[in-house]
Amino acid sequence: MSDQTIETHFVEDRRYPPPLEFAAQANAQPEIYERDFEEFWESEGRERVSWIEPFTKLYEWELPYAKWYLGGTLNVSYNCVDRHVEEGRGERVAYHWEGEPGDTRTITYAELQREVVRFANALKELGVEKGTPVAIYLGMLPELAIAMLACTRLGAPHTVVFGGFSADSLSGRMVDMGCEVLVTQDEAWRRGSTVPLKRTADEAMAAAPKVRRSLVIRRTGNEVRMQEGRDAWLHELDLPDDPASCPPEPMDAEDLLFLMYTSGTTAKPKGIAHTTGGYLVGVAATHRYIFDLKPETDVFWCAADIGWITGHSYIVYGPLCNGATSVLYEGTPDFPDKDRWWSIVERYGVTILYTAPTAIRAHMKWGPEYAQGHDLSSLRLLGTVGEPINPEAWMWYREHVGGDRCPVVDTWWQTETGMALITPLPGVTTTKPGSATKPFPGVDVGVFNEAGEEVGPGGGGYLVLKRPWPAMTRGIFGDDARFRETYWSKYPGVYFAGDGARIDEDGDFWLLGRVDDVMNVSGHRISTIEVESALVDHPRVAEAAVCGRNDALTGQAIVAYVTLKGGDDGSLEMLDELRNHVAGKIGAIAKPANIVFTPELPKTRSGKIMRRLLRDVAENRPLGDTTTLADPTVVNEISQRASADASDD
Ligand code: WTA
Repeated sequence: MSDQTIETHFVEDRRYPPPLEFAAQANAQPEIYERDFEEFWESEGRERVSWIEPFTKLYEWELPYAKWYLGGTLNVSYNCVDRHVEEGRGERVAYHWEGEPGDTRTITYAELQREVVRFANALKELGVEKGTPVAIYLGMLPELAIAMLACTRLGAPHTVVFGGFSADSLSGRMVDMGCEVLVTQDEAWRRGSTVPLKRTADEAMAAAPKVRRSLVIRRTGNEVRMQEGRDAWLHELDLPDDPASCPPEPMDAEDLLFLMYTSGTTAKPKGIAHTTGGYLVGVAATHRYIFDLKPETDVFWCAADIGWITGHSYIVYGPLCNGATSVLYEGTPDFPDKDRWWSIVERYGVTILYTAPTAIRAHMKWGPEYAQGHDLSSLRLLGTVGEPINPEAWMWYREHVGGDRCPVVDTWWQTETGMALITPLPGVTTTKPGSATKPFPGVDVGVFNEAGEEVGPGGGGYLVLKRPWPAMTRGIFGDDARFRETYWSKYPGVYFAGDGARIDEDGDFWLLGRVDDVMNVSGHRISTIEVESALVDHPRVAEAAVCGRNDALTGQAIVAYVTLKGGDDGSLEMLDELRNHVAGKIGAIAKPANIVFTPELPKTRSGKIMRRLLRDVAENRPLGDTTTLADPTVVNEISQRASADASDD
């Protein structure tokens, strides 16, 4: 970590205690923090989830792997769907879905049950059974949640691949997990135009020979190529939808529920494994207490994409397990206009909104008039996730969206943690703009210095988790060595999160961003090495170095330094070509914002690229110590080119 990050000390003395009325009715009361760790998770395990066989042991921790709710068996789709119908909640809305073009669907729990059963029967027809890995490559359709639940009904682990990812990214994931079936759609809507998901899926399937069948959902209705014997339209299958036609499969608490691939510090994404029992308890408990969910009256909207962990935990599994009513929106916030979100909040009476700082900053840039044009008085609680939130953005959110009356909960967590771990509880915690405040009850967080000593209030260093929690990952699929190395080798016996953090005098946590080679662009994790590999994959590129620079809108933006083969100086055409090449290899989210062509990259005498210097160049900082460089003049040349680039913009 650069010293600069550790020493970000600013004074923030604004305090927001919970409003009295909110505190009086809140699901979480102050005593929650006094509860014993084991007693807390034990009773959450019993109360949030219906078990087929009750668990006999709370947890077991054989470093680094933990198991939870041992001996218990359950089914996730039963917990998220059937039991609500059986207990008389069938008429409650599970999802208010809105398509980007403006079409809508209201899906009750009873309807969801029929859809999930029908979908599970479709998967069965395609040969899916307990244990068959299924890939899901869909936009934000109700069928995305339905497909996930259908997999859980059969006991088939899924991996959902974000619809913005390329064919290479999709096939890489399918090959790694050994997927046999792929669920996709003809095309997706995006800002009024169409995205050819099926076409990309075809390319990906060609490179993933284990994928035997695909199930295709019709969305835009435009013609797509269907391969005889492999591809089937969902709407053409005639399938039963009564629950008895496809009873939920009893699963062990520790059976694999899904993999979610995320970027690490090497080129290959990691398949983060989550299992059935602990994950479901963890997301349901956090959803209930952090969002103060009242399932009878709340309308919850997590405005993320289900293709990321946030959507898995807080659009699908947590809310449905709790019997919540959620909003599901297909499109972008600025289509057809920049008030789309506020119109959704108004029309569905959203009471709880959960989004990312980057989205808040986009709304800030567009101006408060879009929110002001709508009645947002239904809102009672706001949340954020994905990156450190700047105090200005926090304040803007509180004032212009929350009307100065809604508590704001800044929740820190990761794909690996499965559930939010550092967060205010809205009826209990006094919040501060920019701080994620306190560990969730039953969660043990620390900050360690370089030497591995725990720092107290007022100190800064690396964030670690000292005790297991139910939704923690059960490892990287097929790569035990990488799991141990990435998370468990920096300090013995504790989980190293890869984030810098500071604890203030009140014991509140302030997250400071990643300390490794992972960038955070609009809340998406992207590995510098992955982008470098994509660039070097281009036939004209000799070498590339990538770093993140601060960006007012996206948090970080990707900067690439590229050396072309044969002393080529580069051109605007080449710049475009390389950006598109990266989009083709990884996805549009990984496109560099800037590319600086340079005849050489700054390297140490042992040949390591000095990314720290490149970051300084990218952020116009005075260059620090360059004495270890093999050729110090390289850096001057690069900074000149970088500033020439900036003046071209
Ligand atoms: C960052 C998203 C500061 C952090 C759920 C973490 C945050 C990475 C916060 C995980 C927050 C997430 N404050 N930083 N409230 N929430 N992060 O796996 O760097 O996509 O390690 O999970 O996002 O990103 P991931």
